[in-house]
Amino acid sequence: MDGSEGPYNAGMTEHDTPDDSSFRRAGPRQLAAAMQDARHYTLALFDAFDAAGYGVPAQVPRLSIINPPLWELGHTAWFGEWFVLRDATGSHPGEAHGHSLLARGDDWFDSNTVAHRTRWTLDLPAPGALKTYCREVQDRILDRLAREADDDAALYPYRLALAHEDMHGEANLYTLQTLGVAPPGLDGHVSGGSGVTGAGGIAGVGGVVATSGEIAFAGGSFVRGGDQSRGFVFDNERRAAACRVAPFSIDAGLVSNGAYLAFMRDGGYQRPEYWSEAGRAWLMAQERSAPRYWRRGDDGGGAGSGGSAGNGGGAGNDGWHVVRFGRRIALDLEEPVRHVTLHEAQAWCSWAGRRLPQETEWEFAAVQGHPDFRWGQLWEWTASGFLPYEGFAADRYREYSAPWFGTRQVLRGASFATPARFRSARFRNFFTPERDDIFSGFRTCAL
Ligand SMILES: [Fe+2]
Repeated sequence: MDGSEGPYNAGMTEHDTPDDSSFRRAGPRQLAAAMQDARHYTLALFDAFDAAGYGVPAQVPRLSIINPPLWELGHTAWFGEWFVLRDATGSHPGEAHGHSLLARGDDWFDSNTVAHRTRWTLDLPAPGALKTYCREVQDRILDRLAREADDDAALYPYRLALAHEDMHGEANLYTLQTLGVAPPGLDGHVSGGSGVTGAGGIAGVGGVVATSGEIAFAGGSFVRGGDQSRGFVFDNERRAAACRVAPFSIDAGLVSNGAYLAFMRDGGYQRPEYWSEAGRAWLMAQERSAPRYWRRGDDGGGAGSGGSAGNGGGAGNDGWHVVRFGRRIALDLEEPVRHVTLHEAQAWCSWAGRRLPQETEWEFAAVQGHPDFRWGQLWEWTASGFLPYEGFAADRYREYSAPWFGTRQVLRGASFATPARFRSARFRNFFTPERDDIFSGFRTCAL
């Protein structure tokens, strides 16, 4: 807690200006480079899965939270073909022109019509043939992009295809975590703070120390949502509207493993009074007593006999380890707690006498430019359900937002796996409350 500064109201920016790296206002040349970078990363991710034996769909566990990597590869290229090369006016069958370069491309890779559970048993082309398809689509897209004017309407499908590929890139990274496979080029770095700035422009893998302290904001009015006057805006960010925020105090950084461990030591998982009704139901179904990827020193993996402090190389971590991309490392008390559900975040708040921020508070804080407000390490659960802003209208990728309103919770920020070009204080991510395979954490507000 740091109440000495007084409320912060220095920079009442009406709209943050996306920095030069944002895809939202990227021109044709910048977009071409970004699309090549994204595709390079997509292919590297597939190769990482393939090397681990997951290149064949039948070898991939049938989990509701992942797709077979081969399907992801084809789907990513197909999406760009649909919206850019086939000039789709919408996402429904018949709303794109012509045919896919793959005779059965629409039958295999349209996420609207190919049921999730069937993606393991499709008669897909071999990896080599799908890579050729990816290259052919990419070449044609880049060829066309080179002739486009720097015009928002003309560039919309390219920006959409790039955003889609970047989102799938991050989804692939949490699939790697789910399957316990090391990310491409990250060997030996998944637990460190050295970061990975190669393919995909990933900003760093973990290791960023949680910021302590709290920032008091005086509140006031600001423009919430995406600026539709220029550049790319996701449909769920519209319409931008003036919004008033009451004074609030918010953590400068994310809740740390150490702070979360204190809740566990206090019997947090055994005390129903801290859990919401939905949280108690989840807890009963999971029999969970720690975050998804936490392991004790004595539950396998040869990491010692468990017990006393200091075991496992982290003083005071009670012998806890975490599993990162298949490797066990000692729990670092200073790092933000990661891979937690909304239920766990809410229970921690209840125990600590805190609350999650509303998404509008989070956005207000992020656009003020306060030097201590740090975000982008992990997606942050908010107190807000995913709902449309007033005036919402679905864009041509109609299933991006509309089907999910009312059943998902908003997460704000970005994660270490989010490319720099994708990061925006306006972006609204959304998942169901029980998801903890994603790169999720949380910060809190004073009650
Ligand atoms: Fe997709």
